[in-house]
Amino acid sequence: MRTQVGIVGAGPAGLLLSHLLHLRGIDSVVLEARGRAQIESTIRAGVLEQGTADLLTEAGVGARMKTEGAVHHGIELAFEGKRRRIDLTELTGHSITVYAQHEVLKDLVAARIAANGALLFDVSDTSLHDVDTGTPSIRFQHAGESHELQCDYVIGCDGSQGVSRAAIPQALRRDYERVFPFGWFGILVEAPPSSHELIYARHERGFALISTRSPNVQRMYFQCDPHDTVEHWSDDRIWAELHARVDSSEGEHVVEGRIFQKNIVGMRSFVSTTMQYGRLFLAGDAAHIVPPTGAKGLNLAVADVRVLTRALEAFYREGRTDLLEGYSATALKRVWRAEHFSYWMTRMLHRLDDASPFEQQLQIAELEHVTTSRAASTALAENYVGAVAV
Ligand code: PHB
Repeated sequence: MRTQVGIVGAGPAGLLLSHLLHLRGIDSVVLEARGRAQIESTIRAGVLEQGTADLLTEAGVGARMKTEGAVHHGIELAFEGKRRRIDLTELTGHSITVYAQHEVLKDLVAARIAANGALLFDVSDTSLHDVDTGTPSIRFQHAGESHELQCDYVIGCDGSQGVSRAAIPQALRRDYERVFPFGWFGILVEAPPSSHELIYARHERGFALISTRSPNVQRMYFQCDPHDTVEHWSDDRIWAELHARVDSSEGEHVVEGRIFQKNIVGMRSFVSTTMQYGRLFLAGDAAHIVPPTGAKGLNLAVADVRVLTRALEAFYREGRTDLLEGYSATALKRVWRAEHFSYWMTRMLHRLDDASPFEQQLQIAELEHVTTSRAASTALAENYVGAVAV
């Protein structure tokens, strides 16, 4: 088996890359360890920067996002019983689209299949070979048989637990990590929206976030112990916690409904450098993880893919390798910007067990500042919508 670009992983990075390459006449094969049903139903975040939404539209996979996603022009920050709005569009000229990541995946899978793209699910025993030579290959098992895929380039889009990152020798790699001592308890609720924009709340009891999925389904989160289990949380206890953290003293309150999904996610920041080795390039979670507070995970994966698509196109059209050689350095600028933003938002909004009463007051002072100073709100807004110079 031979292709130009072998892609490990059918998450947003792998599928979008494969589709953008196809539109430029470049062949690829995508190998995915999970099944199609699993990737299309795993619940993840749901905020698309305008640049992400635009790229999906340009790639011809934006039709359902346009009708089912919701364009938002602002977010709310809740603290000390009040709500303050950050007007993203007025401050930056950009908006965000709230559309769940697994819906993006469904659209991408459908587009790859409609274009007869090579996309294999339920692949096992994947291993990368000779990535530091001109003839790399990927070996794997599929439908009971062993295969070897020869390619010009291998792109590792297989997430933080995948095999790709480990194919870069440890001696050439440097990993940076910060694990947060808290997690997010997430619920899906059948209810009308509590607010027409996302609410990020800072409260002494901990952080909470009110997001949305559709006019009838809402996504809500609250800070919890990452080792807690969903069985400890009855619906009544969840609602009491969300009301305590989010309801305002002006009478705005979280709208309750039937909770039909509960999960707990851990939070960490992680960057692995370099993002390339020979003919292997990493994109998305394979190289970096952000805590969900800035809603940057999917957007960073898409940003990597944008840089990689240009670099591969320059190679196949003009024989240029300079953009490929500069990939890691280019991608990491945006990665570190987003790492800082996500970390900063996380520290400003969560209950930090090591924070003294003094530092708690600093959190409030910072929230007052970012919601009253135009310069400070613009900085938050630019980062949130992804309109940052990097
Ligand atoms: C979500 O809707 O799942 C969501 C929204 C904003 C975030 C994280 C998650 O910052």
